Amino acid sequence: MDLGLRNRVALVAASSQGLGLATAEAFAAESCRVAMCARNQQALAANAERIRKQHKVEVFTDAFDVTDAGAVQRFVAAVAQKFGTVDICVTNAGGPPAKGFLAASLEDWQKAINANFLSTVYFAREVIPHMQRQHWGRIITITSITTKQPVTDLVLSNAVRTAVVGLVKSLANEFGKDGILVNNVGPGFTATDRLKELAKARSASSGKAEQEFLDAWAADAPLKRLGDPKEFADTVVWLASERASYVTGQTVLVDGGMYKGL
Ligand SMILES: NC(=O)c1ccc[n+]([C@@H]2O[C@H](COP(=O)([O-])OP(=O)(O)OC[C@H]3O[C@@H](n4cnc5c(N)ncnc54)[C@H](OP(=O)(O)O)[C@@H]3O)[C@@H](O)[C@H]2O)c1
Repeated sequence: MDLGLRNRVALVAASSQGLGLATAEAFAAESCRVAMCARNQQALAANAERIRKQHKVEVFTDAFDVTDAGAVQRFVAAVAQKFGTVDICVTNAGGPPAKGFLAASLEDWQKAINANFLSTVYFAREVIPHMQRQHWGRIITITSITTKQPVTDLVLSNAVRTAVVGLVKSLANEFGKDGILVNNVGPGFTATDRLKELAKARSASSGKAEQEFLDAWAADAPLKRLGDPKEFADTVVWLASERASYVTGQTVLVDGGMYKGL
């Protein structure tokens, strides 16, 4: 299937590891020009270099915190300066800590709102004018299965990420006339460092082994295994492609069937 993505400019936020990195790499495999960011410059640079060599595409990187609106503005401007535009923007940030409601401080709430909601606002504000000018664009948010089904001890994610869904639907409604498609992708339990951190947190509070939690998450999905970041990335790339040109305002879960609803 020709995805029609060759030479498109794909910006993937928070992409030095895990789902963001797999997504950046999947766009590179489709011959996109790729822009990546994360806070840690070293990991970012090393992965960008690997992607450049492997896929023979241009990769632009900058190290900054996606909760800094000014830094997001400068990054998008620099990407547009280097590549001429931004065609695809995938928003992402690290997940909030695993906590119950009374254990979460007001600072935890503010951080989760900044990272997991406002960073998407910052990117959308900057990329939409570029997409409007060319009457083509894709904004894809990375959130979580928690947008459909709350996960125990992840109250910060359960609450804050639903705001992203409201934003996605609103942007899809407002900018569909400009050829901009806006969708949300929610991972289920996928084998990344984030998942190891969650297993560690559960292990620390329960005294059970980390592996027990990983096994239980795998067992909870009808496919009886954790997701591979590449499976998640392939879904994002498909949504960004010409093959998904009549899909907007949707949440797609990549969760091995774990969501229990209809
Ligand atoms: N993996 C799963 O099973 C799963 C399931 C549901 C939802 N999710 C959500 O999906 C998102 C990605 O998950 P993941 O598993 O790929 O996480 P991960 O392995 O922890 O990777 C997070 C990436 O984001 C970067 N990052 C974190 N905070 C940032 C910030 N403030 N500014 C810029 N970059 C930042 C990190 O690099 P630096 O540290 O260098 O900045 C890293 O590259 C998270 O929000 C996570 O909660 C994951």
